[in-house]
Amino acid sequence: MEQQIQQLRDEALVAISGASDEAALDEVRVRFLGKGGSITAFNDRMREVAKEDKPRIGKVLNEVRGVVTGAIDERRTSLVAEAESRAFAGVDVTLPGTRMLSGALHPITQLMDRAVRIFRRMGFALADGPDIETEWHCFDALNTPADHPARNEQDTFYMPDGRLLRTHTSTVQIRTMEGNPPPVRIIAPGAAYRRDEVDATHLAQFTQMEGLYVAPGVALSDLKGTLEYFFREFLGSGVEFRFRPHFFPFTEPSFEVDVRSPQLAGGRWLEIAGCGMVDPAVFEAVNGRRKDRAYDPEAVSGFAFGFGLDRLAMVMGAVPDIRLFTEGDQRFVGQFR
Ligand code: DAH
Repeated sequence: MEQQIQQLRDEALVAISGASDEAALDEVRVRFLGKGGSITAFNDRMREVAKEDKPRIGKVLNEVRGVVTGAIDERRTSLVAEAESRAFAGVDVTLPGTRMLSGALHPITQLMDRAVRIFRRMGFALADGPDIETEWHCFDALNTPADHPARNEQDTFYMPDGRLLRTHTSTVQIRTMEGNPPPVRIIAPGAAYRRDEVDATHLAQFTQMEGLYVAPGVALSDLKGTLEYFFREFLGSGVEFRFRPHFFPFTEPSFEVDVRSPQLAGGRWLEIAGCGMVDPAVFEAVNGRRKDRAYDPEAVSGFAFGFGLDRLAMVMGAVPDIRLFTEGDQRFVGQFR
């Protein structure tokens, strides 16, 4: 029997070195060492062995099992190594590598960050409010009458519960004053929504930057100085300004700001912002909510402004179609790294 076991060992070793891949090797393992394997079969046949021979034969059987198991493990290791080196054999290591594309902030976000940094230098703090707003914060508190066209369902996205997607970031003026007594000096960048027909210059969602400064004695000259400083920093020192009288329900007097620069839009005047002195009616709406006189129009005054970042991004980057900003095409956004 000892001889039979030794012979099985030799057969197994030959089969192991002949196995050309892992699957074949596994078949060999099952054939010799599996449940019904030929070496395993000798476990049962130990019963036939005479008592005095049992220790010796048992030892041989154990040794053979150990040798065959070891040979299988060794063969498996070298088969894996061979397979790996075959996989690399076709690779030309002198070829240039695959370039990894690194991401970057969206161009509008980059502009917004720059604008925020400039206002922070002038002491403006960041404020925000919800995109889904009440009609009161979006219109009533901002002195916008019930029959104003902006309140129309054609122009504004209304929720079934009567709330709406804010049509401008001016809502944050109200939220800030509701929650904080004067003085307040804030900017609020964020999304605004209108039911515009989407075309090369309109999207249903755009980005605005709102500003508000309320304190005793804030004057129109402060508004002018602040906006002129901002746009000079933002667009370059060569810009010219025009403050054109206009109407907004929430400011009195109100203005539109035009800028002109040889670097922008071929030197044409561009309408870029709305602004004005906070209307006393807005202060009174806030006082009503606060149930105090913190914003007494006889004691405090303020200025407010708002502008869209998407249009600015278009003129600054000579971008012909606003939809490019939302399509995520690498050929476009990749230019703003
Ligand atoms: N909310 C105005 C708009 O979306 C922009 C604006 C005009 C904001 C005058 C202001 C302001 O704060 O004082 O067109």
